[in-house]
Amino acid sequence: MGVEVVVDGLTKSFGRQVIWEDVSLTLPAGEISVLLGPSGTGKSVFLKTLVGLLRPDRGHIWIDGHDLANCTENKLYELRRLFGVLFQDGALFGSLSLYDNVAFPLREHTKRSESQIRQIVMEKMELVGLVGAEGKLPGEISGGMRKRAGLARALVLDPEIILFDEPDSGLDPVRTAYLNQLIVDLNAETEATFLIVTHDINTARTVPDDIGLLFRRELVMFGPREMLLSSDEPVVRQFLNARKHGPIGMSEEKDISELEAEAQQGHDPGTLPPIPPQLMPSGNRLRRTQRPPGTWLAANGVIPPQGSFVDDRGRNWLEEYPRLINAHLNGVR
Ligand SMILES: Nc1ncnc2c1ncn2[C@@H]1O[C@H](COP(=O)(O)OP(=O)(O)OP(=O)(O)O)[C@@H](O)[C@H]1O
Ligand SMILES: [Mg+2]
Repeated sequence: MGVEVVVDGLTKSFGRQVIWEDVSLTLPAGEISVLLGPSGTGKSVFLKTLVGLLRPDRGHIWIDGHDLANCTENKLYELRRLFGVLFQDGALFGSLSLYDNVAFPLREHTKRSESQIRQIVMEKMELVGLVGAEGKLPGEISGGMRKRAGLARALVLDPEIILFDEPDSGLDPVRTAYLNQLIVDLNAETEATFLIVTHDINTARTVPDDIGLLFRRELVMFGPREMLLSSDEPVVRQFLNARKHGPIGMSEEKDISELEAEAQQGHDPGTLPPIPPQLMPSGNRLRRTQRPPGTWLAANGVIPPQGSFVDDRGRNWLEEYPRLINAHLNGVR
């Protein structure tokens, strides 16, 4: 079972450069959250702060009643064990085989025997589809395989919270689709709390329960996927629909004259595209934290754009979902 992470008033700067200020959000236990934002807005810094690799200037990170941002080194060491992190570049040791890379945290943090380690490593290798590649060096495999090896390593200590820094960067669209399915299946299985940083809009639109957006040194919005996908907030709308029109420009912030020119042209922001159905775990399973489609919209009286929740096979998930629940309850796999 994952744990809740409550971030309260977090601020981080390097010297005089403020990265983000007063960030508050709650990662609900067991849910999948995505964090978006233009390059350089401090998403990686945020993940590193969450695991205690960087100390914030101000604010709190509450986990299980402890404030990770303001605790002793010993407590921090203990709290860190709740986390599994897939770093942006995989961060594998180049001179170690995939097997030794994945075994590393077990050898470092536990007193398990080599035969117990072998069993855990092979189980995680199988989970990420890397059986047979254990003996390879990171330099001998593809980028996608390196990501999966990094994921296997992030999983070996059975973390309660898993942070993914751009798990899909550099992957082709098909591999990204497989990886997204793997992430959703992993969440169903481990019930851990997930936070994914990504630039892939399709991933952001279909995978998470919640979405957050960093822009101009602040968290513009954080909340249920359906809330952000139906939002009129200009930055959210521009980013989640990958549009040129809006406050975000090539160098992160458009200058005033560009924005004024856009306003004068009276550019119509256009209608919102349909909200896609959420990616479901494979095999008629449901995640423990799964919310039925349309939950947030209905609770807030928001009517989604036409065609919402229809998948690429033409199935409407507002109708499909109750059937899935029945199948799930009847144990059909
Ligand atoms: N250890 C550090 N010391 C000083 N500045 C840093 C450090 N780490 C990051 N920064 C700065 O913090 C800012 C945010 O960096 P970060 O890597 O978090 O961006 P990001 O949102 O992850 O970008 P991308 O999408 O390109 O990965 C950058 O300006 C970067 O130069
Ligand atoms: Mg980054």
